[in-house]
Amino acid sequence: MKKIKIFDTTLRDGEQAAGVNLNLKEKILIAKQLEAMGVDIIEAGFPIASNGDFESVREIAKVIKKSTVAGLARARKEDIDRAYEALKYAKKPRIHTFIATSDIHMKYKLKMSKEEVLNQAYEMVKYAKSYFDDIEFSAEDAYRSDPDFLCEIYAKVIEAGATTLNIPDTVGYALPEDFGRFIKYIIDNTKGIENVDVSVHCHNDLGLAVANSLAAIRAGATQVECTVNGIGERAGNAAMEELVMTLKLKKDVLSVETNIDTTHIHRISTLVSSLTGMNIQANKAIVGANAFAHESGIHQDGVLKEKSTYEIISPEDIGLKKELNLVLGKHSGKHAFENSLKEMGIELESEELLEAFKKFKDLADKKKHVTTRDVEAIVNNKTYFKEV
Ligand code: KIV
Ligand code: ZN
Repeated sequence: MKKIKIFDTTLRDGEQAAGVNLNLKEKILIAKQLEAMGVDIIEAGFPIASNGDFESVREIAKVIKKSTVAGLARARKEDIDRAYEALKYAKKPRIHTFIATSDIHMKYKLKMSKEEVLNQAYEMVKYAKSYFDDIEFSAEDAYRSDPDFLCEIYAKVIEAGATTLNIPDTVGYALPEDFGRFIKYIIDNTKGIENVDVSVHCHNDLGLAVANSLAAIRAGATQVECTVNGIGERAGNAAMEELVMTLKLKKDVLSVETNIDTTHIHRISTLVSSLTGMNIQANKAIVGANAFAHESGIHQDGVLKEKSTYEIISPEDIGLKKELNLVLGKHSGKHAFENSLKEMGIELESEELLEAFKKFKDLADKKKHVTTRDVEAIVNNKTYFKEV
């Protein structure tokens, strides 16, 4: 089995999500949880961006021992110096330096020629290498860059000492099959690439970040960059929980594995959501409130008889304690209703059960979700609903 490294950038790209601002204590809390669940690399921030970012990278670098701690730096001396200062206490430090390589970015943003970008990347990776061994180089907007230019610049930074090459789809523009082919082309045509990690960093502008990351893994990528709940710039980044659970479920198909203990997923997802104030949509894969909720009578009946009829992942796999999460609503059948009663410790004779079920159905026609309290009220013959 090939190991896929999980590079989490919740504290850097994730924090770039509009409206998100985490304080030092909150960042340390998240970093410790990421380490506990087995994340290989934690990108703790962008040290030159602000004093707050610098301080959080430095403090995270001091407390995290098992995971590598990365700090972002543009391919500039002052950024790299600042990243070094923040990371120097880390047990496993990594400088992650980047420069844009697409024609659009080079012309309008950097106002630099290809030769200048190539040279700057080479010199700055060499400079970063004078501080630490572990250096990641990203070609920003790689997917919209000339592939042959990318192969040239990647070969050059390998020569300068880069140990990970990151290939971002910065604006989330790729389709999975195309992205897979693109990654394979770079792997097949970059001198020295077999000695380094190949990473991808996919944004979710078209909702394809996870699919694109998986296509890249199939093409040979050995590291994926992601965030908890998929938060990040604009529509966000590849969602860590989706990637990790897919890799776990499709382990044999893809012949890969990760170091992640997935039973931490529910906890980290809830933590990040509550600290960032970014709510998780109810139907979000893996961590949404409805991800394990079976509403229709047919589904509920199936799950009660045999979980695998409608469940491909057990709630326990992501750390949810409750075995079954049945939502009672108008589509629920008698079996599910009876089961909920049992879970509440209520056993009824068949006639009472029929009567209670009829009342429940009348209520469910008026109220979207019938709660435990409603069910209690039904069996106790009280006025059972407040909000209709
Ligand atoms: O999206 C991107 O290209 C980035 C780089 C800095 C890796 O976040
Ligand atoms: Zn990004």
